[in-house]
Amino acid sequence: MNNCDVRATWKYHDDTKHSPWSVRNNPHFLDFANRPLPFKLYPTIEPRPLPRDLPQTGVTALSAIAEPARPSRTEAVPDLHDVARILYFSAGITKQRAYPGGEIYFRAAACTGALYEIELYLVTSDLPGLDGGVYHFNPADVSLRLLRGGDFRGNLAQAAAMEPAVAHSPVTIICTGTYWRNAWKYQARTYRHFGWDNGTLLANMLAVSAASGLPAKIVLGFVDAEVNRLLDLETRREVSLCLVPIGCVPGSPPAPREAPALGLEAIPLSQHEVEYPAMLQMHDASSLETEEEVRQWRERHSAITSFAPVGEEIRLLPLSEEEQPNDTIEQVILRRGSTRTFDKAASITLSQLSTILDCATRGVPADFLEPPGSQLNDLYLIVHSVQGLRPGAYFFQRDRNTLEVLKPGDFRAVAYHLGLEQELPADACVAIFFLAELEQILEQYGNRGYRAVQLEAGVIGGRMYLAAYAQRLGSTGLTFFDDDVTAFFSPHAKGKTAIFLLAIGKPLKGKAH
Ligand SMILES: Cc1cc2nc3c(=O)[nH]c(=O)nc-3n(C[C@H](O)[C@H](O)[C@H](O)COP(=O)(O)O)c2cc1C
Repeated sequence: MNNCDVRATWKYHDDTKHSPWSVRNNPHFLDFANRPLPFKLYPTIEPRPLPRDLPQTGVTALSAIAEPARPSRTEAVPDLHDVARILYFSAGITKQRAYPGGEIYFRAAACTGALYEIELYLVTSDLPGLDGGVYHFNPADVSLRLLRGGDFRGNLAQAAAMEPAVAHSPVTIICTGTYWRNAWKYQARTYRHFGWDNGTLLANMLAVSAASGLPAKIVLGFVDAEVNRLLDLETRREVSLCLVPIGCVPGSPPAPREAPALGLEAIPLSQHEVEYPAMLQMHDASSLETEEEVRQWRERHSAITSFAPVGEEIRLLPLSEEEQPNDTIEQVILRRGSTRTFDKAASITLSQLSTILDCATRGVPADFLEPPGSQLNDLYLIVHSVQGLRPGAYFFQRDRNTLEVLKPGDFRAVAYHLGLEQELPADACVAIFFLAELEQILEQYGNRGYRAVQLEAGVIGGRMYLAAYAQRLGSTGLTFFDDDVTAFFSPHAKGKTAIFLLAIGKPLKGKAH
């Protein structure tokens, strides 16, 4: 069983670290003539258009983010409008802009390089307005394409070793990652981006499912080859990353059906593609091979130790429900975008920051996060300008709802450096770094723990984006110099691994977003 040999993760992780040296000495350049298509297109399958005029949920963004849509035993079956809402507000096109290199279609969730390498598929029973089948979602024409007709939920339930949420869901969304679409720019580091970009998309998906009154859960425990086969994926190019069962029905799923290879034609993404073996190896090493392995994997719980604070603590003061802005989740997703320039002279309040931290960290419903509410990533902050907080470095004590002071000081120059020498984390009001005890995580989950920790970071980061935009603040994800992040937050962060970075502040007036 490959998954247990975690040397594969350390090799991939160490080889894809950014350092000032590695960034300066990378000869890679962007070949715009070979830029990949942003969509997966099946030229031979007729589209089945989804409704575009969707009833609004009326649910406020902050409550939809904070209220994890946990699986329940109550029957809940989405109709075609619910399915269309969830797909559109997770991966749909929300803005379009002309650039010298062509048109960019911006989507509902943030994504590294706006390259949108995450595809969505549905495995569904008959729903009101939609026949059972395996479908691909194409955001370009807001439609589904039927890959297999009939109810294949039994195949998924079997691949997930009868995980209860999958076994009882009327429909499951499968997220896949397409290597080349992102590796065109980011090369082998794309495997980390799979987790981040899938995560931000899932933050939207969980929030919109919750707002639609539908339980949803992220499932990472499944036999990879079986799910890939069901979707007819060419696995050197595209692989399944997670399942998201939505809704709940009583009874058992149907028996698995024959799912022969389809060999469906898809339009090539580029004239030529470059394969990065490091990513194929990382994926292979973190794959689960049998139902038994899935079952054993799922029994491993996330007992990540937390440490009592030693420094001074500042209590967080989230806005009460009455004080919270009441824009709906749909409105906030439509106006979200990554801030391109922050106003260095601006500040945010402690309540605004507290609300973001609180909403984003109430627990991600996932099969790898047991008991519910546990979290793999720790949050470290560099505060530049938050009213009520001295500038400095802090650690978020999630269980205590406090910020522990690590070191006071003006660290704008440090944030500039850590965020790959970009102005964004220096000019924002706060930069939030995600670090994790990767050694412990790999010990518990094997190589698949690497997928889990990146994905969880993306979900929490995606929620932070939404919680910031709900309060009319700005935000952006960022990349970072791995080891320098750990060094800066040490000794507290000694031994931890940098996973993700997000900056929050106020957009400079007159600039986009
Ligand atoms: C994980 C993550 C990392 C990102 N890193 C950077 C970065 O280092 N620099 C930057 O300018 N933008 C960064 N972005 C922002 C993306 O470029 C942006 O999400 C993308 O262009 C799509 O635009 P939108 O978020 O406005 O919809 C990042 C986004 C994510 C989700």
